[in-house]
Amino acid sequence: MNQHSRFEDADEVIVDAAVSSNLDDSICEADDSVDKVVEGSVGEPAMALIDADHKTSADYYFDSYSHFVTLQEMLKDSVRTKTYQNVIYQNKFLFKNKVVLDVGAGTGILSLFCAKAGAGHVYAVECSDMADMAKEIVEANGYSNVITVLKGKIEEIELPVAKVDIIISEWMGYFLLFENMLNTVLYARDKWLVDDGVVLPDKASLFLTAIEDADYKEDKIEFWNNVYGFDMSCIKKQAIMEPLVDTVDKNQIVTNCQLLKTMDISKMVPGDASFTAPFKLVADRDDYVHALVAYFDVSFTRCHKLMGFSTGPRSRVTHWKQTVLYLEDVLTICEGESIVGSMTVAQNSKNPRDVDIMLKYSLNGRRCAVSRVQVYKMR
Ligand SMILES: C[S@@+](CC[C@H](N)C(=O)[O-])C[C@H]1O[C@@H](n2cnc3c(N)ncnc32)[C@H](O)[C@@H]1O
Repeated sequence: MNQHSRFEDADEVIVDAAVSSNLDDSICEADDSVDKVVEGSVGEPAMALIDADHKTSADYYFDSYSHFVTLQEMLKDSVRTKTYQNVIYQNKFLFKNKVVLDVGAGTGILSLFCAKAGAGHVYAVECSDMADMAKEIVEANGYSNVITVLKGKIEEIELPVAKVDIIISEWMGYFLLFENMLNTVLYARDKWLVDDGVVLPDKASLFLTAIEDADYKEDKIEFWNNVYGFDMSCIKKQAIMEPLVDTVDKNQIVTNCQLLKTMDISKMVPGDASFTAPFKLVADRDDYVHALVAYFDVSFTRCHKLMGFSTGPRSRVTHWKQTVLYLEDVLTICEGESIVGSMTVAQNSKNPRDVDIMLKYSLNGRRCAVSRVQVYKMR
């Protein structure tokens, strides 16, 4: 996977924002005309990389959360962190005297929010070395009697209680599902959550739209056609398969935003994260399309009022940015014409934190007729 910043201020995170949820900024709507979701799988398996220290890519994933830079980036993402804080502080009725399980606690920030909101007891489970820091942080803030930090993997630890009333977690990855902890949350839900217990957040939706992106595609992809006079286009074939995580300017959007899939975290099974969803992207102006862009929204529907946030290009930027899938063809699209197709998303069979994506798309327009299948790998 590629992470870039095409704007000077793309990494800037606004820390003093009064409002956390950015859902109101988003004007993208679900297209009810395309709602069929078919189960499926895609792509060839990839090897989980093992290096000389015998660390797998999964080990590096956990290590990365011990790094203060990663943690700080997440905490400073005020759309993310303030939304969780508002959900907890503005819905104290959910937490009063309840037993909470914080899945992947990191610094323990969500556990602290829950304790402050009146939770009876919070179990903060964290598998990385950050668990030691979380213990210190809990003590330093005077919550040792309410929060118990447990160091270990959710799948391996023993909880001192048989059941919990609430599971809270910030499990989402780039493209929602890359390096995500969704299966860990579902495991915890099935093992410990009481019947009618609360999962926060409980809904996550993946969306797709199309953008004009000539300059950046030229810079990142077409660059390989002629490198100081030499043909390196074999690299271009690989580069185009790697989704790019970056911020997209809302003015680049050429079509509607299509809902691909909504996951109900309180009910779904792990297999539901692999799916095929059809899409229809209708152009709202004459333009060129260089890429499709995926992003997600999450929501907390058990709150008194619906709360959540969007990672879409029309909303305030989050550290998840958007995921750009470059097309081999440049599509010349006229207003009212549609790109139709399907996206298949599957966990990689060798490393379930990786994601394989297959895009089938066609445009039958006045100026352009294209039909193609492209495969992308998020590694
Ligand atoms: C995205 S961070 C969120 C941290 C914190 N909850 C927050 O909101 O700032 C996810 C955390 O989950 C931890 N984690 C991932 N998989 C886990 C597992 N299977 N068991 C326990 N912790 C896990 C990671 O080490 C990481 O600290």
